[in-house]
Amino acid sequence: MIKTVPETDEIALIIGASSKIAQAIIGQVSQREGKHVIAVSRSVEAAISAANVTWLPCDYSEQGIAEVCQHLAPVVQKLTRVVICNGMLHSDTTFPEKQLREFDREKWLESMETNALLPMLWVQAIAQILDVHQRNQIVVFSARVGSITDNRLGGWYSYRASKAALNMLIKTASIEMKRTHPNVSLLLFHPGTTDTPMSKPFQQRVPKGKLFSADFVARQLLDLLDRRTEPMPLEFLDWAGETIEF
Ligand SMILES: NC(=O)c1ccc[n+]([C@@H]2O[C@H](COP(=O)([O-])OP(=O)(O)OC[C@H]3O[C@@H](n4cnc5c(N)ncnc54)[C@H](OP(=O)(O)O)[C@@H]3O)[C@@H](O)[C@H]2O)c1
Repeated sequence: MIKTVPETDEIALIIGASSKIAQAIIGQVSQREGKHVIAVSRSVEAAISAANVTWLPCDYSEQGIAEVCQHLAPVVQKLTRVVICNGMLHSDTTFPEKQLREFDREKWLESMETNALLPMLWVQAIAQILDVHQRNQIVVFSARVGSITDNRLGGWYSYRASKAALNMLIKTASIEMKRTHPNVSLLLFHPGTTDTPMSKPFQQRVPKGKLFSADFVARQLLDLLDRRTEPMPLEFLDWAGETIEF
């Protein structure tokens, strides 16, 4: 159950909250900005413990998502930001494909489920609980490699294509929500290569100065959101606030 949220507090909902970038966002929003954070994750082991952070475990099933939304319902008017961090490039059984012959049905389905379907289910569920005139910023973590225009190197078939699918789903939702939720701004965000478990196997190829800390990326995102105070059309932006072509 969500602890009592003081009258004045704004709430930020951080989904996929075990992500290293999510942890940095939770730290900055709860400690520096003093806002209330509701953190949703499959695992609460890495949980930041603070009076203004509430952890909700979720298995990301449709029922699990619905239960989180039920918990949110009494405080939904205070919900001003939603950040969906989930993403998967590799796992115990999956590594990004270098070649066409490595493309595999199961790995593809796993990528699509985590990178495209899951964030979309959250956007769908959140849209249903928000008041239609409520102002809210929804950030969905994408990746530059999900840009079809930017694909010059090839490889990483499943990750690329699942992030491209995510971008299309969110773009489509943004067109509908402009009508149904005119005060909601959607943002697709590319954090840049960030020092997290996701990028670990690939960090040796990153040019000097281009491997960011999670704290830096969190600050860049929060600054970007602070500059976007008015309801805005969907953008696909990187950590520097630069537009990425779809
Ligand atoms: N790190 C980079 O260099 C980089 C670059 C470009 C884009 N990104 C994107 O940034 C976001 C955050 O990445 P990160 O580097 O912070 O990752 P991370 O520390 O490896 O965290 C992984 C995140 O993905 C979720 N996740 C992983 N496997 C999942 C599964 N099977 N089902 C559901 N959720 C799953 C985790 O959710 P739980 O909390 O539920 O465990 C967690 O939110 C991702 O969307 C990623 O694609 C990262």
